[in-house]
Amino acid sequence: MPRIRAAIVGTGNIARFHAESLHALHDEVEVVAAVDIDSARLAEFCSTHQVEHQFADVGQMLTSQRPDLVHVCTPPGLHRAQVLQCLQADASVVVEKPPTLTLRELDELAAAEGAAGPWLATVFQHQFGSGAQRLRSMVADGVLGRPLLAVCNTTWLRDEDYFAAPWRGRWDTEGGGPTMGHGIHQMDLLGAVLGDWDEVSAVARQQARLMETEDVSLAHVTFANGAVASVINSVVSPREESYLRFDFERATVELTHLYGYGDDDWRVTPAPGFEERVDAAWKAGSHGVGSSHVAQFEAVIHSLRSSSAPPVTTADARRTMQLVAGIYASAFQRRRIRPADLGPDSPFYGRMDGDGARW
Ligand SMILES: NC(=O)c1ccc[n+]([C@@H]2O[C@H](COP(=O)([O-])OP(=O)(O)OC[C@H]3O[C@@H](n4cnc5c(N)ncnc54)[C@H](O)[C@@H]3O)[C@@H](O)[C@H]2O)c1
Repeated sequence: MPRIRAAIVGTGNIARFHAESLHALHDEVEVVAAVDIDSARLAEFCSTHQVEHQFADVGQMLTSQRPDLVHVCTPPGLHRAQVLQCLQADASVVVEKPPTLTLRELDELAAAEGAAGPWLATVFQHQFGSGAQRLRSMVADGVLGRPLLAVCNTTWLRDEDYFAAPWRGRWDTEGGGPTMGHGIHQMDLLGAVLGDWDEVSAVARQQARLMETEDVSLAHVTFANGAVASVINSVVSPREESYLRFDFERATVELTHLYGYGDDDWRVTPAPGFEERVDAAWKAGSHGVGSSHVAQFEAVIHSLRSSSAPPVTTADARRTMQLVAGIYASAFQRRRIRPADLGPDSPFYGRMDGDGARW
């Protein structure tokens, strides 16, 4: 089978992880082109990662190279238009999180996918480490009993310099603050384990950073399976941590890390009487794969090879984006929000700050 021909759009910070991961999968995929409007950065990127063709424009790249797969690594405000161009050129897409600025944009992109491709996958790499895979299969097998309670903390630190980048900290270009840009990773894993959410009640605040968006949000989330979760998203926390805790009937499962985890970052504490069963299930299954772009891209390529929608699908990414929209809607409208409140008639469907952030 010929190798998948891939291109990378946007050659800034995160693009390196895409190039290195795709090179690690070189038996299956080759990076044939890269696109950036910053010609110096593009040239350096192509030289470092041995990419042959350079373009300043996505359209020109698509016409000239006809790639099978495009990795979109530009700032979030550009995702909708660039992903749409690629899907319309019959290329499947891997887009960096957040996939779009709004639910409306995500629905537009989902409508441009085909049943047999092209497809859109969103990068949520924390779903792909062994620990998350094992936890999800233990939940599916019923080993852990009912999920009761969860904690999902993204307490990170970003200074004023970080938000000086012209696209950061603005509703029009980043789509939100740490709820949209940082905690979205942890909230995505929370949803991957607990499923659909039912109701959210939240607060968003500007505590310290000079920017348009929140720098802190706190939420209480109820899931359709009855579990309740406390969620914190922050970029003002000097001791940084990403922390997930799930209390099931038969065990507590915790994950403590910062930007990526390995097997050792998980802790499982069985409830009395369930030690043997829980420990045996946790020891079985896959081990040794950390959360990373390469772990997700391997799964993406496997799906493309078998002509199925690659993970994380637009439907899965939508659940996470809808929780983000729900947190903002609850915080700014000061009321409980259910998914049904976020349809096309809601101001929060077309902008994450709805009809304006109310602090
Ligand atoms: N998955 C993760 O863990 C993770 C981590 C960091 C960032 N990200 C996401 O990756 C995306 C990019 O973030 P970043 O930190 O790499 O940003 P960045 O600013 O470092 O890089 C963006 C690049 O896009 C280029 N660009 C701008 N306009 C363009 C256009 N019209 N066509 C082509 N290129 C254009 C810029 O010149 C720049 O090189 C964001 O969506 C961000 O949220 C994801």
